[in-house]
Amino acid sequence: MKVLLIGNGAREHCIAEALTKSGRVELFAYGKAKNPGIFQLAREYQLGAVNDFKAILEFAKKVKPDFALIGPDDPIADGVADLLLELDVRSVAPLKTVARLESSKSFTRDLVEKYKIQGNPLYKIFYDTHGACHELNGVREFLRELKENFVVKADGLMGGKGVRVSGDHLANEEEGEAYANECIRKFGRVVIEEKFIGQEFSLMSFVDGKHVVDMPPVQDHKRAFAGDKGPNTGGMGSYSDANHSLPFLKQSDLDEAHEITERVAEALFKETGAMFRGIMYGGFIAVKKGVRLIEYNARFGDPEVMNVLPILKTDFVDVCEAILAGTLNKLKVEFEKKATVCKYVVPEGYPDNPRSGDKIEISGRRSSAKMYYSSVDQRADGLYLSSSRAVAFVGIENTLHEAEKVAEAACASVKGPIFHREDVGTSELIKKRVEMMRELRG
Ligand code: GLY
Repeated sequence: MKVLLIGNGAREHCIAEALTKSGRVELFAYGKAKNPGIFQLAREYQLGAVNDFKAILEFAKKVKPDFALIGPDDPIADGVADLLLELDVRSVAPLKTVARLESSKSFTRDLVEKYKIQGNPLYKIFYDTHGACHELNGVREFLRELKENFVVKADGLMGGKGVRVSGDHLANEEEGEAYANECIRKFGRVVIEEKFIGQEFSLMSFVDGKHVVDMPPVQDHKRAFAGDKGPNTGGMGSYSDANHSLPFLKQSDLDEAHEITERVAEALFKETGAMFRGIMYGGFIAVKKGVRLIEYNARFGDPEVMNVLPILKTDFVDVCEAILAGTLNKLKVEFEKKATVCKYVVPEGYPDNPRSGDKIEISGRRSSAKMYYSSVDQRADGLYLSSSRAVAFVGIENTLHEAEKVAEAACASVKGPIFHREDVGTSELIKKRVEMMRELRG
């Protein structure tokens, strides 16, 4: 079987590993840079920008894959799955109309509202009237109504940097309004909503249009530095517990999140006539009473995928085929009962002024951690940084404590101008999260 994989980060390295594990897949990779891990696993590796659809289609015409798997958000949002389908290549990724679940925050909020699905905050969408949204059309009043607890969301993809939160990135209503105007100028629309207090978690699900099969929930760490300090990043590390839950969650939280995803998948079909086939990645938050929806992504999370695919017991190719055939209900999808901790090693200065072009040394690694390459350049004399998250290490053990030690030892052994978050997955940090939820829920 031939599979076309689009994307070249650690997420796609992990996907490539899962696809090739069963030994029945010939992998054809397409990405903007040569990922050394994917390169090892691929039969052929085509270099090209992920938004160069002409090049992707030419490669697909030549390869004639049985199906495609698309890693990053941008090509999914721009409809690469639609174009591949015209060549009779189905994708484990949604068509453009349903990919709006990620690319348009207003679409998703309105969908959840229209179909009376639980989980939405108080929210309003403001449109461009005269090139800006100002007090006249109610932005300031709504920010005031939310009493300093507001979130301003750009209504389009901004590489994970489109969402700004009061008390975090926005100091007051003036800053909230200014950012809302910026969003309006860029996308013609902005979503302003109530900020939730609680603990965030990612629940990614395999979805075949009708059936929803959850992966273990994961908690990501967006901030660059220990103690959740510093600028937002693509994600510095993540963990998931051996019982396929998280220490601060109740089973009812997971049930509620699952129900939201099921109902949203159904609503998407009713609304658009297209089935969502791919990965629905719900960004949820456990609050005082139950669970709320922060946003959906229409792809695997990075780093979250590295917590789940390495412990998937079921053949991932079977899962992909069931997604495409609409038969996920007939497949037993199982994960090992293992705790996982993933930590990224990133260049000094990341994310604002990352170093690039420096050599790093990972050969001294003496641990059982799995390793996934991201933004690195493999040259004849070694591995070089290329200005974003470099390498991810994943500890997979019986307990979170052990998994964290394995991931940490691997990160600590890397030499070069790099850093990582030592606190991801530690008992100390997890205890704080558990206590926060205990206080909130009483
Ligand atoms: N973990 C963040 C993301 O994949 O968008």
